This record gives sequence, C-alpha cells and structure tokens, in this order.
Amino acid sequence: MITKDTIAKIIDTAQIEQVVGDFVNLKKAGSLLKGNCPFHQEKTPSFVVNPNKNIFKCFGCGKGGDSLTFIMEHEKFSFPEALRFLANKYHIEIEETQTTVEDKQIQDEKESLIIALGYAAKFYQTQLTETEDGIAIGLSYFKERGFLDETLNTFQLGYSQDSYDAFYKQAIKDGYNPEILLKAGLIKEKAGKYYDFFRDRVMFPIFNVSGKVVAFGGRMLKNKNPDSAAYNPKYINTAETDVYHKGQILYGISHAKNDIRKEDVCYLVEGYTDVISLYQAGIRNVVASSGTALTKEQVQLIRRFTQNIVILYDGDAAGVKAALRGLDIVLEQGLNVRLVLLPDGDDPDSFVKKNGTDETLDFIAKNQQDFILFKATQGIKDIGNDPIKKSEVIRDIVQSIALVQDNIKRQLYVKHCADIVGVPENILVNEANKIRVQQFKKSKEIDDTHAQALTEHVKVEEVHHQSIDKTPQLYYQEKDIIRILLEFGDKEMDKEQLVSEYVIFELVDIEFKNNVFGRIMQLFLEAYQNNTPFEDFKNLNNVDDKEVKDALIDLLSSPYELSPNWFDKHEIVVKDANRTYKTDVISVMSRFKYFKLMELIKILDDKIKNAETSGNFEEMTAFLMKKMSLMETRKQLVKEIQTVTHPH
Ligand code: GTP
Ligand code: MN
Repeated sequence: MITKDTIAKIIDTAQIEQVVGDFVNLKKAGSLLKGNCPFHQEKTPSFVVNPNKNIFKCFGCGKGGDSLTFIMEHEKFSFPEALRFLANKYHIEIEETQTTVEDKQIQDEKESLIIALGYAAKFYQTQLTETEDGIAIGLSYFKERGFLDETLNTFQLGYSQDSYDAFYKQAIKDGYNPEILLKAGLIKEKAGKYYDFFRDRVMFPIFNVSGKVVAFGGRMLKNKNPDSAAYNPKYINTAETDVYHKGQILYGISHAKNDIRKEDVCYLVEGYTDVISLYQAGIRNVVASSGTALTKEQVQLIRRFTQNIVILYDGDAAGVKAALRGLDIVLEQGLNVRLVLLPDGDDPDSFVKKNGTDETLDFIAKNQQDFILFKATQGIKDIGNDPIKKSEVIRDIVQSIALVQDNIKRQLYVKHCADIVGVPENILVNEANKIRVQQFKKSKEIDDTHAQALTEHVKVEEVHHQSIDKTPQLYYQEKDIIRILLEFGDKEMDKEQLVSEYVIFELVDIEFKNNVFGRIMQLFLEAYQNNTPFEDFKNLNNVDDKEVKDALIDLLSSPYELSPNWFDKHEIVVKDANRTYKTDVISVMSRFKYFKLMELIKILDDKIKNAETSGNFEEMTAFLMKKMSLMETRKQLVKEIQTVTHPH
C-alpha cells in the first residue's frame, strides 16, 4: 500500500493546471484557465481549471475534481495508478507499506499528536489575544515588532504564560491524555508531576507541508540575563517527535509553496521572524531552515516546487559560514543556488522593515551572486600567499564543482574558478575528474553491498521469484501479459490466430524488463516454434529452470480474471456483458504498450532538457518532434483502451 505520507505529498505537490495542461490546451481567462473538455465533444470551451483551488470543472458535462480524479478519469487509471503517474511527474519517491495492526496504531497515534498540537496552537493563540498577560506582554511584543493582526492569524502566533502548568491543566480539563501531550513535546514530567514545556514565551507554531501544526518554537520575551543564555536560550523548540523531524521540515513551507511555484524560486532565510516579515511585506516565497544546517530532505522538499534557491543571509561572518554549509547539499540535489548577502548587521526581517518591499526585491535582484563563484572568491580572500592553505581552498572548491551534474555548467565553473583562484584550468579539471571518479566508485560500492544484502535476504526467506525486479509500472503489466497467455493462450483471438499468437506477434522485438518474465516469454516463443501443445507447456513438463518454474506455479495459482485491477472499483464497465477475454487481452496489451511508451517519453524528456542546457537547439527540436509523435501514439492508445473498456 502507498503510505499516507506519500499520498499527502503527491496531493500537496500536484498543480492542477500542470496536470491538465499535459492533456488539454488551456488558455488564460482571468484567474482561471479554459479549454475544450476532454471528456465530451464540444466546440466552445466549457472546461475550466481553477489553479487557486487546484480543481477542474466542466460546465458542459459536469465532470470535476482534483489532479488525481482528472488522471483517473482521463487515463482510466485506478487510484494507485494515478498516484504513481503523478509521483513520476513530480519526482516524488513512493513509499509503500504492508499495513499491519501495529502500523495502524502508529498512524492513529500520529493523528492524536496532530490533534493535540492543533489544540495547543489554538490555546496559545487565545492566550495571546484574550488574556490580560497575553495582551500586555505577548501581543505588545509582536506589535512592537510590527506584526499586523492578519499576520498573527496567518502564522497562528501565540503566547504561553509564565506559569508552571497552565496549558497542561486546561488540556486535561478538555479531555487530553497526558501520554499524548508528552509524546507531542508539549509537556514534561518531573518526579511524577507534569509541567508545561513552553512558559513565558511568544509562540511560533511550526507547520508541515500540508499546513498542520507539528511543533512549536517559543521565543523568550526579554533577555533577563544574557549570561544565562545557556539556561534560558532565546528560542526553544519542540524536540523530535513522531510527527516532527526537524531535518525534514522548513518553517513556512505550507504558506510559501504556491508562491515558490509561481515565482519559480525559493528564498531561504534563517529565522522564523524573517519568514514572517517578508511574508507580511508580500514576499511570500520564503522558508527558513531555523538556524540549523540545511539537510538533504529539506532541499528535496524545495525541489518539489522549484529548482532555484536564493539564500538570503546576514552578511556577517557567521551568516556566510552558515550559508556555505548548505551549498554542497543543494548542488548534490541538482538545484541552482544563488546567494544574497545582506548588509552587515541586517537580517531579512530588519532589512525589509527598514527598506520596504520594492527596495528589498530590488536589492535581492541586484545582489544575487553565484554561490560557487562566491565560495571561490571568499576562499581565496583570506589565505594570503600560503601555498598549503591555497591548495586546501582549491580542493574545497573543486569538491563543490564536482557535484554539479550538468557537464556544460561544470566546465563553465571550472573556467571561472580557475580565473578567480589563479591556477591553470586543466589543474581544476583533473582535480574535479578525480573526485567524480571517486564519487562514482563510492556509489557503485553502495549499490553492490545493497544488492548483496537484498539477495541474502531473499535467500533466507526462501521466497521464490520475489527477487524479481519489481519495476513499479511495467512489472504488473508484464505479469498480466503472462497471466493472459497462460489463461487464454489457446483460445481464439480471431479467425486467423490464437491469443498466444496474437500476443507473441504484438511483442516481437520488445524485451521484458523483468528477467524471469522475459525467460517465460522466451519459453512461450520456443513452444510456439516447436509446436509444443499448450497443455504440455502449462503442465511445466519441459521447464527445468527453477525460478521460472516457481514463477509459473505462482501465476497459475492466481490466474487472470475478468476483473483486472486496471478497472477501478468504481468502473461500472467491469460488469459490462460486452467484456470478454478478447477485450481483456487487448486492454492488457495496450496498457503494457502505454507504459512502455511513457518510459520512452520520459527518456526523451531528459534528452530534451540536456540538449536545452547545452544549448544544442537543433538536437532539442529533433527530440521534441519525436516526443510529439510519441504523444500522438499515446493518444491513440488511450483511445484504444477507452473503446475497449467503453464499447458503446
Ligand atoms: P529574532 O531575534 O526574534 O529576530 O529572531 P530571528 O529569527 O532573527 O533569530 P536569529 O536570527 O537569532 O536565529 C535564527 C533562527 O535560529 C531562529 O529563528 C531560531 O529558529 C534559531 N535560533 C535562534 N536562537 C536559538 C536558540 O537559542 N536556540 C535554538 N534552539 N534555536 C535558536
Ligand atoms: Mn531577527
């Protein structure tokens, strides 16, 4: 089963106009988009896409829904198939689980934590605006910082009073279980007594990407004694919990994601208040790493919405250092990263307050610098003439350059950096290549060990044929073809040929991805050529390959039925009397071809992108033409699938 997290990720990421736009020619109409409905015949467009609400609706035929429903309807996909399709489009890795009772309990508990955290956010919000202390201390603090009421609401800012257990007591009164409050990080326990974790602080709820409160940051109100910072830090945050993994969350992402996508760039700042002030100023494509070094998961989170990151940091030494720490991770994930250093002493919060929105945007535009070049300039600045230090700096820069996957970009960096640090280009090229070879070897090693571990595992469990490569899509399609062959192979397809002949001829020159299935196909072919009776083949008389035999036994014991999962449960057509094994054979074959085709299209997309980055537009056009013709074939196939499944 696809995990809830993955489903949420897909739904959060999929943008209706992009999903529909792949199939329907959409034109702007105000804040909406319009096109001819793909679900019924029409001459004037009554099919409307609403990007803000992330839904579509046809006023002609009445069909409507979100990205998932569109794909299910348009491609005749089941729910999981549609999820896989969108995951593929947005480079989201699919996590799958077998749900056990235990999993269910964990899931339920996570939901309880989320409910308790949402309750706490409401509690602190009420404290801020409806209690005497809250208004006098918390609210006045926020006002002083220039936060408007609307902003306080948007970010659900709150206040925790200077009390041992005010929150705890209220929560218990309202029926919350101390166990859950503890696990959510809201309270602590000492000598059998519970007390509030957040006290005498202004509260910043931290949201996950779907906008649920999963943790809090609490800021102290007054610096009572700067020397006691170790005991009373400026900010305290919820510790890691089952719903809050610090390294996987970026502050502000749920508020920023649509604007990040719209602007196609994500501003990365350090603090909560930086996010909030920029947002209030209308600069909404901004998230914070919250004072820690950027993690791979955080960069991947950004990558779901854009390929471009601009880091806005304090220009002081600490800010620069913090920024540099994130660079390699960003590069590794293939994102473009630029840097804006703010004037010494300013953070984005103070800068935007001093200078206003327009000037801030202007400053960002004018002061962006390439991050790798910045690193080179910065590195070479403070080494003087020390040759040892110099070679260290060079190695460090080259290490970053080597992470750039795009060949042409990498070459450009080598050229520029060679200039900056004052060494011949070929030295940098050699160094970079050495590192890349090492990286490659390292990744191979990991793969080999991994592969070995996998085979070991399978051996121990003695699960036959499970070692087969379950390439998500094609695995099932290939399996279905074999099942269809086994089940209906000796039936008549038409006057001229049997189902087995039809399938074999359709698949001439097509290789199966899955090795075992491929071998089975090969055996079918041989049986056909040698006129081996079909029954003999099915009885496994001549099969001595253990893996193939196991797979065949398994397939024969779960034969193909006339209600394949291709038809979603909601498809009434499944019960259609017109469905026969023949229509099923055609539909299984079409599906296989469809996914094969999608694979080819994906490869082409990569080629197009590469050609574009290397500026080879002739090549790019050629690939584009090819893609167009494949898309045409794809359309035909979908039609074919639809006629088979909707015979009227
Ligand atoms: P203000 O001082 O209120 O403007 O906050 P800021 O967001 O500008 O804070 P700062 O730039 O000092 O720090 C950036 C981020 O680092 C903060 O938003 C916090 O997430 C985190 N941070 C700062 N101080 C502490 C601390 O003492 N402890 C912890 N755990 N995190 C901190
Ligand atoms: Mn600040």
